[in-house]
Amino acid sequence: MSDLHLKPIQPVDGAYNLPNYKAVYQEFSWNDVEKEFSWHQTGKVNMAYECIDRHVAEGYGDKIALHYVNGDEEQVFTFKDIQEKTDHLAAVLKKYGVKKGDIVFIFLPKGPECYLAMIAAIKLGAVAGPLFEAFMEEAVKDRIMDCEGRFLISDSELVKRVPRHELPSLETVFITEGPDKCRENEISLIKALEEVEPEKNSIEWLELDDRLNIHYTSGSTGKPKGIVHAHRAMIHQYQTGKWVLDIKEDDVYWCTAHPGWVTGTVYGIFAPWLNRATIVVNGGRFNADSWYSTIEKTGVTVWYSAPTAFRMLKAEGNEALEKYNLSSLRHILSVGEPLNPEVIVWGIETLGKRIHDTWWMTETGAQLIVNLPSEAIKPGSMGRPIPGIEVAVLDDNGIPLPNGQIGHLGIKASWPAIMREVWKNEEKYQSYFINGWYISGDLAVLDEDGYVFFQGRSDDMINSSGERIGPFEVESKLIEHEAVAEAGVIGKPDPVRGEIVKAFIVLKKGYTPSADLLENIRMFVKQKLAAHSAPREIEVLDELPKTKISGKILRRELKARETVKVEAR
Ligand code: WTA
Repeated sequence: MSDLHLKPIQPVDGAYNLPNYKAVYQEFSWNDVEKEFSWHQTGKVNMAYECIDRHVAEGYGDKIALHYVNGDEEQVFTFKDIQEKTDHLAAVLKKYGVKKGDIVFIFLPKGPECYLAMIAAIKLGAVAGPLFEAFMEEAVKDRIMDCEGRFLISDSELVKRVPRHELPSLETVFITEGPDKCRENEISLIKALEEVEPEKNSIEWLELDDRLNIHYTSGSTGKPKGIVHAHRAMIHQYQTGKWVLDIKEDDVYWCTAHPGWVTGTVYGIFAPWLNRATIVVNGGRFNADSWYSTIEKTGVTVWYSAPTAFRMLKAEGNEALEKYNLSSLRHILSVGEPLNPEVIVWGIETLGKRIHDTWWMTETGAQLIVNLPSEAIKPGSMGRPIPGIEVAVLDDNGIPLPNGQIGHLGIKASWPAIMREVWKNEEKYQSYFINGWYISGDLAVLDEDGYVFFQGRSDDMINSSGERIGPFEVESKLIEHEAVAEAGVIGKPDPVRGEIVKAFIVLKKGYTPSADLLENIRMFVKQKLAAHSAPREIEVLDELPKTKISGKILRRELKARETVKVEAR
């Protein structure tokens, strides 16, 4: 709890979009935001229209919408370019049968095609299902199978990880390249675009509660669940883009997440484009030089990333930093995992800027607890609820606890961006709510000023580099390996990644532990699920701790061993 006593860091003066938090918190109503949208007048709703076409209609067609950088390659698209390209792509998708309500999975690297595919699908009223580019066969299969996806947009590399023979629902697969790169039963988008006339006004008008997108996310039990958001989410996403990202007309905005994660969609596409910002997309994986040079080259002013990335940049030292001019940066934000005070100090010392922590979840659809640029930051705190949101720390029965006590972080339901449903799982959806509160699964403490301090999870969910990993998914994969009899998987505290995936296994009779065998087991998970899900550490035990009655593996006990080891260091 010593975190609570670190000295607050005051804001610097500036013209911020939400300068008077306390006053606005008292009087704000979500209804006030609705008049910002064109549908308030026309009654015609579509997220893609508000993100792109509307800006063209209002005379901003020549403004840069997307600046893509990958090494020496650069591509620039105006809002008009994006409008035309997505109309054309939508015409192709329509010709092949995509219509309102269909799920269109998008399995592409972080590049312009991924962003165009998302908007084109949404224009038709389809439900965009972006998949993280590092997913391997099993992870892709579980997701497409769960909601019987019929359409997929991919490329010739990633599509190799889509086991079509095991996915009978998947009727149509589009490949972003030419026919020479397509296999049997795959449609070349390059060719199809040549064959299909561009169509103007491809927008399908919808209701606010119609489905917008689906993100699969891991919990502590079972397979990943499909969290669905509705077009209504734009009200909340627009407003947080304005208040929290603090986007203004001249901003160049960079969110480092891939759209396969909720941050990469909501704050990588919707919130900035609803606010008519120029977005930067950086292809390729993390690398300090590439990241700093992206900021310099594109003139990033507002930057949204994650603690692991900041810690990795910090670990690279000042040598990489000093090569670049980062003076364009105005506002920096973080999300996804606890932001340690040392990282905030690093930000101030090296970038000359505060890093603003924000808290939300896939299920919440947009930021709820934030640090605003106009307000004091208490290092170690995730900040305070935005206007329109009430938070509390609750006991096991959903009753609010006094300040200073640890309990379940709850949010008074409801708000515009909250998930519309968990795909075909009403029971799971209902399980999030108690006494009118949404229960996040996070543990927290509130202080006397209303600042929220994260204290861990109440379940076994693992958060490695801000990526949610379900222990059950990894355990299930481990025991498919011929040498593994039993497995228990936990998040082990790690100074850079927050947590790493650690597996405890019992070997089958006849197998003896060796470095080769353990590496083989690790690779087995990596090649089937995803690199970030593969255990970085595997420890062999004679037996796993279990509950006496049901024989369930006690992950908590495994975790306690690791936490004690770290604290003893
Ligand atoms: C964790 C990401 C500490 C938390 C947008 C939450 C955080 C889960 C923070 C959601 C933060 C998110 N400080 N922990 N600022 N932000 N988390 O669904 O445990 O991928 O429940 O959404 O990440 O992860 P998800």
